[in-house]
Amino acid sequence: MGKSTQVLPAGMPNGGKGEPPDTAAWHLGLHALASLVENSPELVAVVDVDGVLRYANPAHEGFYGYEADSIVGRGIAELVAPEDAPKVLALFHRTVGRPDATVRGSFRTSPQRGPQRVMEFAATNKVQDTTIRGFIVHSKDVTDRVEAVERLEDLLRETITAFATIVEFRDPYTAGHQRRVARLAAAIANRLGLHADEVDGIEVAASIHDIGKIAIPAEILARPGPLTEAERRLVECHAERGAAILERVPLPLPVAEMVAQHHERLDGSGYPEGLVGDDILLGARIIAVADAVEAIASHRPYRPGKGIDKALGIVLEGRGITYDADVVNACVELIRDEGLQIESDAPHVASSARRFA
Ligand SMILES: [Fe+2]
Repeated sequence: MGKSTQVLPAGMPNGGKGEPPDTAAWHLGLHALASLVENSPELVAVVDVDGVLRYANPAHEGFYGYEADSIVGRGIAELVAPEDAPKVLALFHRTVGRPDATVRGSFRTSPQRGPQRVMEFAATNKVQDTTIRGFIVHSKDVTDRVEAVERLEDLLRETITAFATIVEFRDPYTAGHQRRVARLAAAIANRLGLHADEVDGIEVAASIHDIGKIAIPAEILARPGPLTEAERRLVECHAERGAAILERVPLPLPVAEMVAQHHERLDGSGYPEGLVGDDILLGARIIAVADAVEAIASHRPYRPGKGIDKALGIVLEGRGITYDADVVNACVELIRDEGLQIESDAPHVASSARRFA
């Protein structure tokens, strides 16, 4: 055994105080337990309250760019990515006063020495134990799993983008409309303080909110001039048709429902269900405002664009009546106070992590 085993507790696991714990593990005996730790494929380490490794089992060999023997005595700052080290240390410090408490988390390894890995860990507070005086940390390399999930997310996002492109090919007058609505809706959702996952879900739903127009004859969509009553009813079907297309896609957030509800209005005057107030998903209420502002401001085959001031004026008139008041306020603040450009293709202010999980 090398240096890595030198600080393995030599005394009783309770620090030599009182009766030993009557556990199945304890009855295995110290040598058997030591062997389990030494032969574990998982990384097992003891880290003191200053974040310095006091013991590392042989599974650490090659990890973090060090041999297992030379890893003992190194601090978390040398092993963990600089942006993750404070988070890990803070977690330890918050747990110091809770004997036997186990905390869990994840971090990336330092990119300084070899390929960066993503690790999940569970750390049990044994700081008060006189033989251990630190945290017992079990770590596992989950890089392959994280990368597989990211590849799936990329695939899903590319599929969604392809969906959006299909409808825009058939309806060139609204080409770019969904993309601009998505950008504005995500910015509003961020402004309202929604979780990054919710912001992502709303952005995805907004980016394909008119996918149901694929079921509407192209000559109706592209024809300049007002619609007949029958044509208008046909166009209105796009919300339900869009939801029907998307409900078979296994998205973790209610994207299909948001698409179904993006023409619902707070006072029940919308379609297809005539839903009222909070019965409409917040995401759909956000998309409704972004959709209205973008559509009014931009050029349409049957009328020129009315401009952003007119668009904001119209949603302000409907604030609390047809449109959610908080959503309208957030939208107006973003555009008037922060200068968000809805017509521009520049990156929007929503920069949440691109995640579905
Ligand atoms: Fe629509």
